[in-house]
Amino acid sequence: MTPEQIELVQSSMQELGAGDDVVRRFYDRVFELAPETRSLFPDDMEELRTGFLATLTELVASLHELPDLALQSRALGARHRGYGVQASHYAVVRAALLDTLASTLGDGFTPAHAAAWGQAYDLLAEVMQQGAAASAGGPSIASRRPR
Ligand code: HEM
Repeated sequence: MTPEQIELVQSSMQELGAGDDVVRRFYDRVFELAPETRSLFPDDMEELRTGFLATLTELVASLHELPDLALQSRALGARHRGYGVQASHYAVVRAALLDTLASTLGDGFTPAHAAAWGQAYDLLAEVMQQGAAASAGGPSIASRRPR
C-alpha cells in the first residue's frame, strides 16, 4: 500500500466514527451475503459489534507499523480458525465491509478509497489466514480469546 492509500483508509475510518449502527449494518450485510455464517456467531451480537469495531480501528491505525499489524492479525486469524471461519468467508466479509463503507460514506467514498480499503483488507485477511494455518497443528496461546 502507498502512504496515500493508508491515509485514505485511516481518514475514512475516522469519518465512519464509533456508531453501533454502522457495525449493525455491516453484520446484516454479512448475513445477507452468506446466511450460513450466522450460526458461527453468538445469538447476542452486542459485545462482538463493539469488539469488531475497536479491533478494526486498531488494525487500521497500525497500517504504518507492519510488525505490530502482523502480530495482532496473526493471533486474530488463529482465533478465527477456532470459531469455524473458512477461507471463503474472508471474501464475504470483504464485500460486506466495502458495501457498508460505500453506503455510509456516500460520495465521500471514492474509487480510490475503495481500492485502498481493498488492499488494506487483503493484507489483513492474508496475515489472518497465515495465523490460522500456523495454528492448524493444535490449540496455541494465540488461539485463546483474550478476556
Ligand atoms: C478484517 C477481518 C476481521 C476482523 C478485524 C475481525 C474481528 C473480530 C473480533 C475482534 C472478534 C472478537 C473475538 C476475538 O478477538 O477473537 C471476532 C470474532 C468473530 N469473528 Fe471476526 N473478524 C474479521 C473477519 C471475520 C471473518 C472473515 C469471519 C467469517 C464469517 C468472522 C467471524 C467471526 C466469528 C464467528 C467470531 C466469533 C464470535 C464468538 O463466538 O464470540 N470474522 N472477529
